[in-house]
Amino acid sequence: MSIKPWEHTEISSLKGKDILTLHDLTRLEIEEILKKCETVKTMFNLGADYKPLKGKTLGMIFQKSSTRTRVSFEVAMWQSGGYALFLNSNDIQIGRGETIPDTARVLSRYLDGIMIRAYSHEDVKILAKYADIPIINGLTDYTHPCQVLADLFTIQEKKKKLTGLKLAFIGDGKNNMANSLIFGCSKVGMDITIASPKEFLPDKEVVDKAKADANMNGSKITLTQDVYEAAKNADVLYTDVWTSMGQEEETEYRKEIFAGYQINNELVSVADQSVIVLHCLPAHRGEEITEEVMEGPHSVIFDEAENRLHVQKAILSLIMG
Ligand code: CP
Ligand code: NVA
Repeated sequence: MSIKPWEHTEISSLKGKDILTLHDLTRLEIEEILKKCETVKTMFNLGADYKPLKGKTLGMIFQKSSTRTRVSFEVAMWQSGGYALFLNSNDIQIGRGETIPDTARVLSRYLDGIMIRAYSHEDVKILAKYADIPIINGLTDYTHPCQVLADLFTIQEKKKKLTGLKLAFIGDGKNNMANSLIFGCSKVGMDITIASPKEFLPDKEVVDKAKADANMNGSKITLTQDVYEAAKNADVLYTDVWTSMGQEEETEYRKEIFAGYQINNELVSVADQSVIVLHCLPAHRGEEITEEVMEGPHSVIFDEAENRLHVQKAILSLIMG
């Protein structure tokens, strides 16, 4: 009897695992997610009937707005044969003070997994500690691992490799995207340079944590205030909003301090000639990126956004399937 590729019974180390940061995953686990993503994307494009999450329910708790994360997780569950439940944190008792441990224990009796977008990473760690089901971080103040898995998948798709490439991140080096890119690149052996104003260079805690992985995988983490130094010969240019969700009162100050930390045609011209430009979105055209670059020949930003869907399916089927 022939076994179809999606019917193999091998138990992955990801089964039942929380996805809180990429630092917590092994390189092999990250590679497994990317490999699975390739399979699910191909199968989806061929119209194959693949329903590894039949009968499974994902709860999705949101404390902050979302377009991509919400829609891609919800559609990923539906297309994989499961069901997704949108839970605005203001509509459930957590918004009225029910504790996270109690919520975790109750929801574990109903659901097969929880995806949460929260302000505080510590809250997500508490949820994971008390839940008996896998918890997926859909963005916190500290990290955004599912976004970076989609980014790594996109880079691999376009460049046919990850190890040995150089990624330059231009913008807020202390935000969730910078942290996750530092963790992710170090795991897969990509050099990463962060260009930020002095007071927004990455926290030592993040760099120190990632350094062990970078050393083991032969890659470098470089911090600079000079955007041109960062972009020089880069294979991937990456940026994110100057003001993240929850920091709105700092918007005007940030506009001043980040002026110049922008991906524009001049910056693209110092990168490798086949550089690809990524942005997690939403974008503020004219601030961290220009309209010309967003819509220009180096931008793979909308392929990157599409890949959120395929990566969510890979993550969900590996941890909950
Ligand atoms: N990139 C990202 O997470 O987008 P949303 O905030 O729309 O989910
Ligand atoms: N740094 C941004 C990422 C949005 C996907 C934020 O937290 O708002």
